[in-house]
Amino acid sequence: MLVGKTHYKTIWREGHTVKLIDQTLLPFRFSIAQYSDYRGLCMAIRNMNIRGAGAIGAAAGYAMALAFAEAQMNHKPTFVLDAKKEIESTRPTARNLFFATEKVWESGKKGAAAAFSEADRLAAENEDAARAIGEYGMALMFDGISVNTHCNAGWLGFVDWGSALAPVFMAHRRGMKVYVYVDETRPRLQGARLTAWELENEGIAHTILPDHAGAWLFRNKKVDLILTGADRIAMNGDVANKIGTFEKAIVAKAMGIPFYVAAPLSTFDPDCSHGDLIPIEHRDEGEVLRISGIKNHRLIEDITIANPRSHAINPAFDVTPASLITGLITEQGIIEPKEHLIKTLFDTPKT
Ligand code: MRU
Repeated sequence: MLVGKTHYKTIWREGHTVKLIDQTLLPFRFSIAQYSDYRGLCMAIRNMNIRGAGAIGAAAGYAMALAFAEAQMNHKPTFVLDAKKEIESTRPTARNLFFATEKVWESGKKGAAAAFSEADRLAAENEDAARAIGEYGMALMFDGISVNTHCNAGWLGFVDWGSALAPVFMAHRRGMKVYVYVDETRPRLQGARLTAWELENEGIAHTILPDHAGAWLFRNKKVDLILTGADRIAMNGDVANKIGTFEKAIVAKAMGIPFYVAAPLSTFDPDCSHGDLIPIEHRDEGEVLRISGIKNHRLIEDITIANPRSHAINPAFDVTPASLITGLITEQGIIEPKEHLIKTLFDTPKT
């Protein structure tokens, strides 16, 4: 997607070096970070230099490939297995992460070169799936549409295109007028910072919305459609996504606004029958109690914004029950979030 006038991907490989757009500095600074060892990439996933389910999956695939390459210089027999466990512990809710480590683990048994090829293949597949989600999602778009989205499920959350925002980008590029209300998404502000920055770069009209203004917005302004991404989808259609998604879905249901979740098949967990079984990542309370920002072009870190003697909880995700979701947009089409329909997605032979 576009940064200024240049086309970028979120993450790519040059030899044994993995490069990515550092999302912790956006929108204030555009900077490329690079990693040549799996531990560095693990740290980048954990610290959210790269984030969003799809991008986490691509990064995890590359981290696994780097581990195979590093194992050639390290004679510890369990090196790669230990690395796999370490990668999988970084962002445990994101199903794409496990999908990628398993695939590259299998390929890596044939050597590091095969591991890198598989990681590249997964990154390309990730982008293709996102584009297909955009195409199928176009069925929901129309000229003059007003969309609400939560967190960042745009191209920064994938290798390119994104999930929830793929239909938005596509509709805009095809000449439709699209307006986006972007939830700010406390505590890390992925909406206010990343989604708003992406939309600005694509020239799409948008406004940032305080997290709890959804009910007000739905009642007072016209929102035609809510689109979010997903970090893990259970086989009964329950969806884990950024904290606050559940609340949004309840309000959407109460106000009769269609609520769609966009995600590739790699986000569905065939071993997870319902949402209560999805592991929820809990992050450091500092993300809630402190904040960073920019003043006079200078990045100011760690301003305390709460009572200094109070503690906070910081669950990174919540689970929205399938009953609140209108439909799931996948690279194979749009379906209702029903178990028998989800199962058919996995039966369809790939072309
Ligand atoms: O904690 P994050 O920023 O990785 O969470 C991102 C989200 O919750 C996205 O909505 C999700 O990954 C869906 S698709 C990118």
